[in-house]
Amino acid sequence: PVTAVIVVAAGSGQRLGYGMPKAKVPLGGDSILTHALRGVAAAGIAQQICVAIPPGDAELRALCEAFAQELAAAHRRNAATGHALQGPVVTVVEGGASRAESVRAAMAALLPGVESVLVHDAARALTPESVFHRVAAALGAGAAAVIPVMPVVDTVKTVEPTTGAGAAVAPELVTGTAPRESLRAVQTPQGFALDTLKRAHEAAAGFDAGQAALVTDDAMLVELLGVPVHAVRGASQSLKITTPLDLVLAEGLLEGPLG
Ligand code: C5P
Repeated sequence: PVTAVIVVAAGSGQRLGYGMPKAKVPLGGDSILTHALRGVAAAGIAQQICVAIPPGDAELRALCEAFAQELAAAHRRNAATGHALQGPVVTVVEGGASRAESVRAAMAALLPGVESVLVHDAARALTPESVFHRVAAALGAGAAAVIPVMPVVDTVKTVEPTTGAGAAVAPELVTGTAPRESLRAVQTPQGFALDTLKRAHEAAAGFDAGQAALVTDDAMLVELLGVPVHAVRGASQSLKITTPLDLVLAEGLLEGPLG
């Protein structure tokens, strides 16, 4: 299928504490976004790469344009050696206030003829090509929705804030324990038939602020439609760079044997 990859990079990156959008934060001499875009291009599955950046961010726009030029130059070199392959088109859009709004803005800018779409967090800048390939393969085999997942190493519990006398003891009270063997940590790129992702986001466009705040990935919107979501193996290198510790890990991955 004709495939586009949407890269969402319109977040503020407050948790990383750099005082700048996360996509701009330096990683191994380049920005997080440049690494993410190179990873998408290297996977070789996209006819279009559509990037959502923070509104008005000229620096990130310039970074995307520099990447597009880098890509075009690589394709000219390939063409010169007889390996002429049409490279992906790079499109830049302004994202929204939430991740879901950024995805909707990017979907509106997809080229006619795109049939399937992978939505990828720029923050997962070191995602291996193999993960893109597993997701694309499941889409090619007929899945309408597919996500990369990892087993959960920690035991995961639900909690609620403590009230009354208990509040003096500890801030939270455990309300339950989910069985760990059936839990998965979810990564990106998440792949969808474009019509399915569009329907899922149309249903979510009417959410109030409270409901919208609960939307943390695209697959959950597809689940709400009742469409089966398939899961393939993710990778530890696909970590979402969120905290300063993650950045240390990512730098280590670039330098180390896994880089
Ligand atoms: O905030 P969170 O870590 O869930 O963000 C995941 C991804 O979504 C990041 O790559 C971020 O740039 C992107 N995002 C976005 N638009 C927003 C919020 C987050 O594109 N308004």
